Amino acid sequence: MLERHLKVAEEAGHLFIPTPERVDVGWPATEREFEEAFSPIRSYKDVVRVPEELRPQLPSSFDVVGDIAVLKIPGPLVPHRAEIGRAILAWNRTLRVVAQDRGVAGEFRVRDVEIIAGDRRTTTVCTEFGLRYHVDVARAYFSPRLGSERLRIAGQVRPGETVADPFAGVGPYAILIAKRRRPARVIAADANPVAVDLLRRNTAANRADHVEVREGDARVILKETAPLDRIILDLPHSAMEFLPDALAALRPQGVLHVYGILEDADREERVQAIRNAVRDSGRSVKGIHPHVVRAYAPTQHHVAFDVTVGPRSRRAGSARSPSASRTSRTRRTRDAGRRSGRSARPGAARGRRRRR
Ligand SMILES: C[S@@+](CC[C@H](N)C(=O)[O-])C[C@H]1O[C@@H](n2cnc3c(N)ncnc32)[C@H](O)[C@@H]1O
Repeated sequence: MLERHLKVAEEAGHLFIPTPERVDVGWPATEREFEEAFSPIRSYKDVVRVPEELRPQLPSSFDVVGDIAVLKIPGPLVPHRAEIGRAILAWNRTLRVVAQDRGVAGEFRVRDVEIIAGDRRTTTVCTEFGLRYHVDVARAYFSPRLGSERLRIAGQVRPGETVADPFAGVGPYAILIAKRRRPARVIAADANPVAVDLLRRNTAANRADHVEVREGDARVILKETAPLDRIILDLPHSAMEFLPDALAALRPQGVLHVYGILEDADREERVQAIRNAVRDSGRSVKGIHPHVVRAYAPTQHHVAFDVTVGPRSRRAGSARSPSASRTSRTRRTRDAGRRSGRSARPGAARGRRRRR
């Protein structure tokens, strides 16, 4: 009810309390000018004008992407979205655009947004760990909430690795890895042409020109770029569908980062599904570590599974009859040769050299 950004005035023994509209509380009311107060505005909620009964529903937090604020607005507040946008711009002078987030959808995971205040644009430049990214919040996926997860993955990359990021979006994993680690090769690709344009722009803007940028379906990219030491499957709703292709493209020893949006009760089942897929690819799981990235819904989490894959262990092989074991080894060797277009031997030798 109070206009907190205006100063209470005192004149001729009367106190004048600023309110956005005339209020009838039994005291005399008048219309007058007030000076701006110097007290800091702690939240846009201090300056927003919405009906009192809707205040509890005002969003308490929102994403800031460069100079764009992106926020979800509960249904009853949607008719007041322009006022919410105005208040956010008044509260934070570094923001230039406020966009209503109406959800992420479709194969390219793009956000349906409506500009509710400020400049009529959806493009901006944001900074993450000192790197600059051109983004378009309406045409290519980008979430500022995942920065620490990207840093966590980059921290695991060892010198000399070949890393593939086939769901790269505008490039925040691939560029961070290329710039902060010493990989031999980083491949970044996406099926969304707008994301790929931004990805090219971002590799140039960050002088990460050694990142190999490609456009196309992840399955094709994985086949074309194998053999790989590390693959980031950052397509949480359907990463499991790409797991067999990723395993086919992985070197005999390698690491997969498989993302998922899961009910908490389903986490163990997902671990087992990953184990099964690795076993079906003819290899074994050397380690599998679920890491909770963030809460997604009351009973769901966004989870990363860091999976270290190795050759099938001797013990697993010895459970079979000698002839069955020989047959499956022969088939695996032939498949490996077909997949990479090389003989399987040099790949295996490379794997051993790296281990020493
Ligand atoms: C969740 S976003 C991840 C973006 C990026 N890794 C990041 O951190 O910002 C998933 C990306 O996968 C892309 N995508 C979806 N299906 C694909 C496919 N079959 N092949 C390649 N890219 C695909 C989308 O266009 C989107 O940019």
